[in-house]
Amino acid sequence: MRLERCRVTGAEQVGPYTLLRVDAGGLDAGVPGQFFMLEAPGRLLPRPMSVCLAAARELAFLIDPIGPGTQALCSLERGEELNVLGPLGNGFELDVERPLLVGGGIGIAPLPFLSERLGEPPAILGFRSDWHAEAAALVPNAEVCVEPTYVTELLPDHPGTVLACGPEPMLAALRARVPDAQLAWEAPMACGYGACYGCAIEIDGELRRLCVEGPVLRAA
Ligand SMILES: Cc1cc2nc3c(=O)[nH]c(=O)nc-3n(C[C@H](O)[C@H](O)[C@H](O)COP(=O)(O)OP(=O)(O)OC[C@H]3O[C@@H](n4cnc5c(N)ncnc54)[C@H](O)[C@@H]3O)c2cc1C
Ligand code: FES
Repeated sequence: MRLERCRVTGAEQVGPYTLLRVDAGGLDAGVPGQFFMLEAPGRLLPRPMSVCLAAARELAFLIDPIGPGTQALCSLERGEELNVLGPLGNGFELDVERPLLVGGGIGIAPLPFLSERLGEPPAILGFRSDWHAEAAALVPNAEVCVEPTYVTELLPDHPGTVLACGPEPMLAALRARVPDAQLAWEAPMACGYGACYGCAIEIDGELRRLCVEGPVLRAA
């Protein structure tokens, strides 16, 4: 984990989302599924974001502008600077057989990086509209569905190793169908490294910090 002041190198619209590119400086991209805490200009607390793409000297984050912090991040322009802390948490385990990536909505954010690291395996992606589905272009070998069709309807009977990120109902449905799936969960996070307990969730009757134990957890 390292804190860097990073310069924005670009910000592109991808459907309703913004792909924010920053100069990585000395930051290690980490493992797909790990995340960084990004300073949100004008806000007290940073916001957790998954690495979407990692090139030699660049990190890119796919951001859904759902509130003040993400909107501030999406309005950053080339040349502006922000504090970036990470990589944080536990990412996906990559030593798997027959990987199948599953993503829903902004949950596809970590999948381009994951796809690259796994040699571009098949993916199933679901979105709420054709506009949102423009983000599917970031994930190679993807089968795409738009509501009212859900990703679980496209899941084969023997899906191999499912690695997924998306809204809670999607993850819950996958959890029921694929007990050995690796699922990336979300919770509001204030620090990102275990200090504040803001991200505590109950797992097997015990409170666990998602930023330390996750965000990627085994379905079972
Ligand atoms: C490990 C991790 C990785 C993430 N990666 C990405 C990413 O790559 N791209 C992306 O766009 N977003 C990602 N998020 C979600 C993102 O961090 C939140 O959307 C953001 O913090 C919201 O901040 P805001 O100020 O814009 O909105 P806020 O005003 O803080 O929140 C808007 C609404 O969303 C709810 N909310 C906020 N954060 C979360 C959360 N984490 N889980 C559930 N509900 C929440 C709030 O309760 C509120 O109702 C990630 C979250 C986590 C925990
Ligand atoms: S975000 Fe602070 S403990 Fe997890």
